Amino acid sequence: MDKFVVQGGTRLVGSVNISGAKNGSLALMPATLLAPGTYRLRNTPNLRDVWTMSRLMGSLGAFCELNDNELFMDTREITAFEAPYEHVKKMRASFYVLGPLVARYGTAKVSLPGGCAWGPRPVDLHLKGLEKLGAEIEVTSGYVMASAKELKGAKIHFDISSVGATGNVLMAAVLAKGNTLLTNAALEPEITALARMLVKMGAKIDGIGTTQLEIQGVDNLKPVDEDTIPDRIEAATFLIAAAMTQGKIQLKKTNPYHLTSVIAKLEESGCEIDVNSDEITLEMNQLPVPTDIVTAVYPGIPTDIQAQWTAYMLMANGTSMITDNIYKDRFKHVPELVRLGADIDVIDNAAVIKGGKRLNGAQVMSSDLRGSASLVLAAMVAEGTTDIFRIYHLDRGYEELEKKLNNLGANIKRVKTDIV
Ligand code: UD1
Repeated sequence: MDKFVVQGGTRLVGSVNISGAKNGSLALMPATLLAPGTYRLRNTPNLRDVWTMSRLMGSLGAFCELNDNELFMDTREITAFEAPYEHVKKMRASFYVLGPLVARYGTAKVSLPGGCAWGPRPVDLHLKGLEKLGAEIEVTSGYVMASAKELKGAKIHFDISSVGATGNVLMAAVLAKGNTLLTNAALEPEITALARMLVKMGAKIDGIGTTQLEIQGVDNLKPVDEDTIPDRIEAATFLIAAAMTQGKIQLKKTNPYHLTSVIAKLEESGCEIDVNSDEITLEMNQLPVPTDIVTAVYPGIPTDIQAQWTAYMLMANGTSMITDNIYKDRFKHVPELVRLGADIDVIDNAAVIKGGKRLNGAQVMSSDLRGSASLVLAAMVAEGTTDIFRIYHLDRGYEELEKKLNNLGANIKRVKTDIV
């Protein structure tokens, strides 16, 4: 296993290219099941989660090859319809194959994802939506079995705005007979991008970019080539990292429009930010002003930057409060930040941070993807050396994180370790 050895006290300066969105790719890849053929998904990030999805697609009979961030997929011979536990337990997004498989092939068996590091992660909304489209759903021995001779359009209201459920049900609805109306649909950019790819494939979807999607089912779709949108969470992580180190960085190949709420909060905390079409420049010349955030569905503050913002607020002289309304237990990183010297109390779904305390390097453990990112950020401003274990979590969702940060002036080494 690898660990990071981070030397603190560095300042980030320079420019960095933002990779394709992990969560974007994980939605586009299963969509290729809807129309047998060959696809080129450009700007696909070279990440563990993409490898996991490729392996899962491979086990269904698809061919996937990633070269220079272009993912070639061939879904002409799908021969299996099961997503086994070994894949789904590694990555919940594996559940995305359920909708396309049942819509295109009439049958699917997908392992229930179970919980994750920070609590239960239900799939009830996915199942309810597919049932409304006419799929017969049975849950036995940890697996969801879905079958349907033909899906039929329906009116589906999501009680909670869910990225995964919207994506899954949308992919099924495009091949259902008749019209489907999805209300309280997620409008995260990755879902909008999925809807756009489906339209390119021949789907009929109105209301893209809103919470109400009207779908007119079609009989067939065709394969396409598509660009993956930039990763807004990676971009936000770099912006926060630069702000923490009182640095000056320029993000390239990004989409500032997807980051409006994050940019507003960074400005509120004291950063100077300039944006143009696909670039963001951030300069920070002071300690941050304590700045509360409350996570929300898009275009609100993403839950996926909550942990990084917690690390950021350790630098502020004063108290700030981070409230997570999407995943209410997502605070596994807090005890590890405390090992570095942070003063944080978790009360219900909020972290209360008394910033301005001196941070000292220590040995810390990654627990999940974004939590691990917060440890890297805190380690970069801590005095001395920090060892971060279990960085495979980071490799799930950040492409060459240490290389990109080191190019900006960080001092991070990837080292083999026996500690698991
Ligand atoms: C996706 C993202 C993840 C991000 C999350 C919220 C991917 C691969 N992952 O996860 O990085 O943190 O959106 O932006 O895109 N819920 C239910 N029942 C369901 C489904 C969800 O109650 O059937 C709840 C969840 O517990 C959560 C909320 O809905 O409280 C939002 O979750 P959801 O948007 O579904 O997250 P994911 O799609 O799993």
